[in-house]
Amino acid sequence: MAKTRFVETHEELSVLAAEKIFSCIQQKPDAVVCLAGGDTPLRTFDIFIEKTKHHSVDLSKITFVGLDEWIGLDGFDKGSCRNTLDEYLFSPLNVKENQIIFFDGKAESTEGECNRIRNAINRLGGLDFILLGIGENGHLGFNEPDVPVDELVHIVTLDNITRESARKYFSSPVNVSKGITLGMKLILSTKEIVTIASGESKAPIVDQIINGPVTHKVPASLLNNLEIAEFIFDKTAASKNFV
Ligand code: F6R
Repeated sequence: MAKTRFVETHEELSVLAAEKIFSCIQQKPDAVVCLAGGDTPLRTFDIFIEKTKHHSVDLSKITFVGLDEWIGLDGFDKGSCRNTLDEYLFSPLNVKENQIIFFDGKAESTEGECNRIRNAINRLGGLDFILLGIGENGHLGFNEPDVPVDELVHIVTLDNITRESARKYFSSPVNVSKGITLGMKLILSTKEIVTIASGESKAPIVDQIINGPVTHKVPASLLNNLEIAEFIFDKTAASKNFV
């Protein structure tokens, strides 16, 4: 069973999540780490950056793997997954390009891009740590409800909830209908998985994850079966179950 922690605030959630990433890289200075974009982890990144600077941690052997990207966008598009990670994590930490494995959502061949990322992760021996957020529909990365669970890396047609929520990341309208993402098979084979959710909009899906069945209709619920997975929910996200 996954572990579930309830905390009062987004700040507490961020401190805990940052500690998890920090402890992973302290134990394994050449860890392969995947950190979601989106809004929820941004404060986690700040705290993680502060900690690494405070302790003068050498990150030069860490590999950072991208979780997902909107098809049609790349790191030069403000609001893309890569752009968010660049701004909030890679640039402040001075991470070198050769330490980053990230999807190019503008690649000519999306299947080729899936293969490139799949092979790169395979060569590294898989992921040591992943930090995930949860979509309002229960998605992980861009693994939408009813996702096949046997994919390592794949292209997904985004559902309406995800397309709608995309608007919050971009200052002008973008037409995104597909995403490229690490698949559930790869995510679930990660050695340590931390999943965070914050905010009232997540309360209904968090309730389903806590009380509902384990089903690929709610991809995040699939983590429930894993010992090495931990959920951290703040009071707003877990308002129906806060203890
Ligand atoms: C982002 C990602 C998504 C988000 C999820 C929650 O790279 O993979 O699955 O983690 O949609 O997004 P926020 O944190 O913005 O609510």
